[in-house]
Parts: sequence; structure tokens; C-alpha cells
Amino acid sequence: MRSIMVLNSKGGSGKSTVATNLASYYATQGRKVVLADFDPQSSSMEWLSARSSGRKSILGVDASAGNFRVPRSADYVIYDTPAAVHGKQLNALLRRAQSIIIPILPSPIDMRAATPFIQKVLDNGRIARKECRVALIANRCRENTNVYHQLDTFLRKVRKAPFISVLRETQNYNKAAERGLGIFELAPYLARKDRDQWEPIIKWLASKRSMPTG
Ligand SMILES: Nc1ncnc2c1ncn2[C@@H]1O[C@H](COP(=O)(O)OP(=O)(O)OP(=O)(O)O)[C@@H](O)[C@H]1O
Ligand SMILES: [Mg+2]
Repeated sequence: MRSIMVLNSKGGSGKSTVATNLASYYATQGRKVVLADFDPQSSSMEWLSARSSGRKSILGVDASAGNFRVPRSADYVIYDTPAAVHGKQLNALLRRAQSIIIPILPSPIDMRAATPFIQKVLDNGRIARKECRVALIANRCRENTNVYHQLDTFLRKVRKAPFISVLRETQNYNKAAERGLGIFELAPYLARKDRDQWEPIIKWLASKRSMPTG
């Protein structure tokens, strides 16, 4: 079973958006997907409740209360996490996943907050020993803006975690989310650019580079 977690202590960085789109992608590929939500805000669980029964099914697991079970038969478990995780809670979360994706927004406040957060994640023993692998993505980007270039420069400089993709800012994510869908379930002509931007993420997750070593 592949376990993938979306993490960033900063609120609103796109954790639930990335987690739900990953769940939707693997479901459309015919995989058995569990979407486990550590966030008491339950955005991922609400996304799932908006999903029609005619769509490829995804099993929702509310992980926010502590005790929860992920069926062993799942191919993928995608973990959504709350904002403001640090200390013991962060270490406990990092024990759960093989691969971590950190989405970061092009904003001075988000970049400032991301610096110590990324460092804390990279300093974690499991990450240092490559028992869990981390990648960074830029989210909600408008390419010809100064702040996007600043984020691009910032993320390229992070050693020990690859910067794997840039997701543009688009209403497609909101349009899809309203219906409990991901961009892979929107009409291709609408979301072609977004699908292209997800390709490196899917590729990284399918590669050894995102898997624990040893
Ligand atoms: N690439 C994008 N383009 C446009 N809107 C986006 C994009 N990514 C996220 N959003 C919107 O930004 C808002 C915050 O995103 P999301 O809920 O995924 O963040 P989060 O990190 O899960 O927030 P929280 O910390 O509160 O759980 C949502 O309204 C979402 O639809
Ligand atoms: Mg969220």
C-alpha cells in the first residue's frame, strides 16, 4: 500500500486541494483509494460527501479523533492534514507516510512560514534516513508575477527535497471541488494545462525517488 501525505503548517496552502486531487486521480486509474483526514475541519471528508455515487469510489476515513483504521486492501492511502502542526504532532504524522508533498503559496507570508517548517520536516530522523521522502510544489501560481519568481527561486534552493511542480491558480480546482471531483475528472479541454502540471507529481510518486530506501 502506498501512503502519501500532504503537509504544511501554514493554513490555506492547498493541502486539501492536493490531497483530494490525488485521491481522485488514483481512483480514476482504478485503484482502491482511502482518503484519510487528520483535520478536524474535515475539508477532505466534505469534498467526499459532495462526490456522486456514480464516480469511482474513494473510502473516507476520519483520522482526526485518533483511532482509525485503513483497510489493508487499499492501494493508496492519501492523508490530508491540518494547519499548525508542529512538535510531537508533526513527528507522529511523519511516521505514517512513505511520501510527503508540501504545497507552498507564492506569498511573502507563506514563504516565510515555509522556511522553518521545511527545515523541521527535513531535520526529522525518518526524513534524514530516507525512510520517508519529501517533495515541494508551488501552488496557486500566476507565472508572470514577481512573487511567483521569488517562490520559484526559494524552492529551487531547498536542498534535500526536490521542487517537482507548479500548479497554476485556476477556478478549475474550485469547480471540481464543489462536486467532489478532481481536475482529472473535469472535461480534458478545460483542464489540460492542469493535468500537465500534475504529471511530474504523479511521476515522482510513481518513482523510487518518492519511496523509502532500504
Ligand atoms: N491552485 C489553486 N487555484 C485556485 N484555488 C486554489 C488552488 N489551490 C487551492 N485553492 C483554493 O484555496 C483555498 C485553500 O485551499 P485548501 O483548502 O486546499 O488549503 P489547505 O491547506 O487545506 O487549508 P487548511 O490549512 O485550512 O486546511 C480553497 O478555497 C481552495 O479551493
Ligand atoms: Mg485543508
